[in-house]
Amino acid sequence: MKIIGTGSALPRKTVSNDDLSQFLDTSDEWITTRTGIKTRQIITDERFEDLAIEAARRALEASHLDPKDIDYIVTSNVGNSYVTPSVSSLVQGALGCSCPTMDINSACAGFIYGMDLVESFMQSGRATNVLLLAAEAVTRFVDWTMRETCVLFGDGAGAVVAQKSDNLLGMKLTSIPLPEVIWYQRPLEHTPFETGTGVDTHHPMTLKGREVFRMAVTSASHDLKEVVEKAGLELDQVDHFVLHQANKRIIDAIQENLGLPAKKFHSNICKRGNTSSASVPILLDELVRDGVIHDGEIVAFSAFGAGFVTGTCVMRW
Ligand code: ACO
Repeated sequence: MKIIGTGSALPRKTVSNDDLSQFLDTSDEWITTRTGIKTRQIITDERFEDLAIEAARRALEASHLDPKDIDYIVTSNVGNSYVTPSVSSLVQGALGCSCPTMDINSACAGFIYGMDLVESFMQSGRATNVLLLAAEAVTRFVDWTMRETCVLFGDGAGAVVAQKSDNLLGMKLTSIPLPEVIWYQRPLEHTPFETGTGVDTHHPMTLKGREVFRMAVTSASHDLKEVVEKAGLELDQVDHFVLHQANKRIIDAIQENLGLPAKKFHSNICKRGNTSSASVPILLDELVRDGVIHDGEIVAFSAFGAGFVTGTCVMRW
């Protein structure tokens, strides 16, 4: 696959660390030094699905394809307003595409898992052009009284149009069953058959930050090396690293482990916060529209998330 169009969309409201400290026992100093985040965009009255549709529309426009040229729509999403139908179905209806649709949930690594899925559709001859999105509204399911989680997140959507080609040079996905490091159990409807002795049906978003931090740095440093080497490249041949934006210190630690120049490790977390699986395609769209990535350059992607899952890949632009 190669990427022939990118797009993104963000909520209108920007929330600063000082805004958060009005109602939480936190400070700009704590959030900035621990995470690198200064502001984030948060959904207020917008419909979450409209962000996904707008990001998809922009990616489609940039690709110069017609909606009818799209063979599949895949969206990575952790939680949204509709449990069903899928975000992909809503996007399809709005754009006027006539193709199969599906959503996937591989937490914050979902965009890379989506790239793997799209590549296999293309390799099997079942698709030539695929619209791949990641759309997230994490701020609608964090507990806004829990300072250790809610300050980290923002909302948004990113999309790409991928086309069949041999530009994807390597891919590695991993999953270790460690549900306790990041989890959220949404409230469920009650039934007349409950006995009241079952497990709680709701649990706020909880994360073991230090454990996640350590696993993220270790796995990304290792997997980036492995994927790049297996693709027959040297690490210093990679021109751009587009990593999940969970914490600027995680990105800096990976850069230091790999011993490469900081300017290759792009970041927008200071403005966007952690937008879960949307962070990689939102950052990618900003880089493409700013003219940072050029034809023929090597771009490496890596993301991690609840599971604990990781996804890493390298492609020629
Ligand atoms: N404001 C002020 N103080 C806070 C806040 C806050 N918002 N949040 C926590 N604290 C306090 C804690 O209560 C603790 O106080 P104590 O020492 O008195 O007990 C102190 O700050 C240190 O807390 P830690 O959790 O140890 O802080 P740490 O330096 O590990 O940073 C963080 C936390 C930012 C979450 C970091 O561990 C991290 O980035 N982890 C990995 C990424 C991650 O988990 N992202 C979440 C999303 S999941 C995903 O993207 C896949």
